[in-house]
Amino acid sequence: MMSIETPLDLPLVLCDANLLSRALLNIIGNAIKFTGTARESDGRVRVVVTTDGDQIATTIADNGPGIAPADLERLGQPFVRGTEMPNAPAGVGLGFAFARGVIEQHPGGALAMRSALGAGTEITLRLRAAACDRASR
Ligand SMILES: Nc1ncnc2c1ncn2[C@@H]1O[C@H](COP(=O)(O)OP(=O)(O)OP(=O)(O)O)[C@@H](O)[C@H]1O
Ligand SMILES: [Mg+2]
Repeated sequence: MMSIETPLDLPLVLCDANLLSRALLNIIGNAIKFTGTARESDGRVRVVVTTDGDQIATTIADNGPGIAPADLERLGQPFVRGTEMPNAPAGVGLGFAFARGVIEQHPGGALAMRSALGAGTEITLRLRAAACDRASR
């Protein structure tokens, strides 16, 4: 199951919409892909967007296989894939490195990952609202 919770009045972000949506699609796609192969029918992916002042946080949480601590340190480098993947879903290990690179080049852009084997994965993507949006509110 997948759910998305977001406020309706999100602030504007100065971004490359094409690159940013590809980055988001990879992170959400990972959550669906790895959770689906591990849990099948009881897999859950939850996307929650919150704002705090000019900060916008998007959390993508799943109840999939999680990531081993040693793997977690290396993720984000090109061609690095986890070593503990049930049913080895297809992929080459580029999507997350791409997503991190894109997000970190946006204003206030940061990516944080929390995960433990067997406990799912939670990725939080932070962006800063555009100054023009702040001025108009
Ligand atoms: N939500 C997740 N749950 C479990 N493991 C994950 C999750 N997201 C990423 N990973 C681990 O991080 C690795 C790197 O992710 P990345 O998106 O770069 O590669 P990929 O999905 O395997 O391949 P590609 O995105 O290039 O098709 C994955 O191979 C997987 O081991
Ligand atoms: Mg991927």
